[in-house]
Amino acid sequence: MSQASPPAPQPGLFGKQLVLGVTGSIAAYKAVVLLRRLVQEGAEVSVVMTESATRFLSPLTFEILSGRAVTTDLFAANQGMRHLALADQADGIVIAPATANMLAKLALGLADDVLSTMALAATCPLIVAPAMDGEMWNHPTVQAHAETLRARGVTVLQPEEGMLASGDVGKGRLPDETTILSAIEARLCLRQDWAGQRVLVSAGPTQEAIDPVRFISNRSSGKMGYALALAARRRGAEVVLVSGPTALRAPAGIEYVPVNTAEEMGKAIVSRFTWSTVVIMAAAVADFRPARPSHGKLKKTESAWRRIEFEPTEDILETLAKQRATQVLVGFAAETEAVLDHAQQKLVRKGLDLIVGNNVATEGCGFGSDTNAAILVDRTGRVTRFDAMPKRELAERILDAVQALTPTSPGHHPESPSGAHKRTNA
Ligand code: CTP
Repeated sequence: MSQASPPAPQPGLFGKQLVLGVTGSIAAYKAVVLLRRLVQEGAEVSVVMTESATRFLSPLTFEILSGRAVTTDLFAANQGMRHLALADQADGIVIAPATANMLAKLALGLADDVLSTMALAATCPLIVAPAMDGEMWNHPTVQAHAETLRARGVTVLQPEEGMLASGDVGKGRLPDETTILSAIEARLCLRQDWAGQRVLVSAGPTQEAIDPVRFISNRSSGKMGYALALAARRRGAEVVLVSGPTALRAPAGIEYVPVNTAEEMGKAIVSRFTWSTVVIMAAAVADFRPARPSHGKLKKTESAWRRIEFEPTEDILETLAKQRATQVLVGFAAETEAVLDHAQQKLVRKGLDLIVGNNVATEGCGFGSDTNAAILVDRTGRVTRFDAMPKRELAERILDAVQALTPTSPGHHPESPSGAHKRTNA
């Protein structure tokens, strides 16, 4: 019998010690597929099952596929303190699927089974992929637990929309194994697929002076741009972040250039343009500024308040498009209606490779929010829609879309892990 040779191990996860935690969800069978992928990638995976998970699947299945004993019981004589040893040695813990019950235990720090005890004892990154009924996922308690975990630095993936075990359609399906794998790689800083890229990111609002005391600005929080800068850095790029005034902390490992006005932002970006390979303009740059800002504070009695004249600022992206060599240009389109139409028009007008459109009038999207939904349009006309998700997850997907447009970029080798796992979002 001829046997297909296994795929070549990928350096990303190769040799990493992972714990795959499986809980009692009907989606537990999908953990088998995930385990196979992890093992194919060269990870050394120890499986820990809750008691209820063993009702859905036999530990033997995981034992055969992982080539390691499966931990199922806190009190089993032959398993001793194995869960603590695993917690100690693991480079990362992945809980997939995670039930609502497991989310609650993790959020509250309960330790009444082998998996929650191990998670509490571990200090390595934790990635959780919930799967449950849609109503359960939407329950405020479950959402609060997911938020608590995220705030603590746990990666909690969004369940996917679709047909659920109940037969209902809703949001609660376990994300597919490729999505979980990408999250593991991104989290464990293993995906260096942007190494060699020099990325210029703009973020936040600009402030345009009316007088020394007042300015006009907009509601941009900078969160999307900062998430993009961090994601690119995590994936190995050199990053310069040109930021308007925000309440966010300057990220470590990134050259940080604070600016106030559209003019300052333009200068900072244009002067670094030849250095860059990718420019992502996530900033909400003022299109107009007061034409004659007052040198002294305007008194409220002054008639100047009745009519402030504005003049256009330079369109930074349009300037860059005229000067570009091989740089990839990414713009944003914050809209309140007809997002796709406006995004498509801006892509062409500004000579962009990719535009990220979003409806800032929708709840959970845009300014100030930690989540964002988006429509991506690329220069080939491909349109990809993303439902609301944490901005840091959306950032990864935007980078994936940029990468799909740069097949010869240093970070993209078809035979590399990035090539192998690059998600095709279309
Ligand atoms: N942008 C820029 N320079 C400006 C204004 C905007 O580079 N002076 C960039 C933004 O950073 C964003 C994209 O252009 O990536 C789209 O910005 P937006 O304000 O949505 O588009 P405008 O062309 O200003 O169109 P409008 O305000 O009419 O929607």
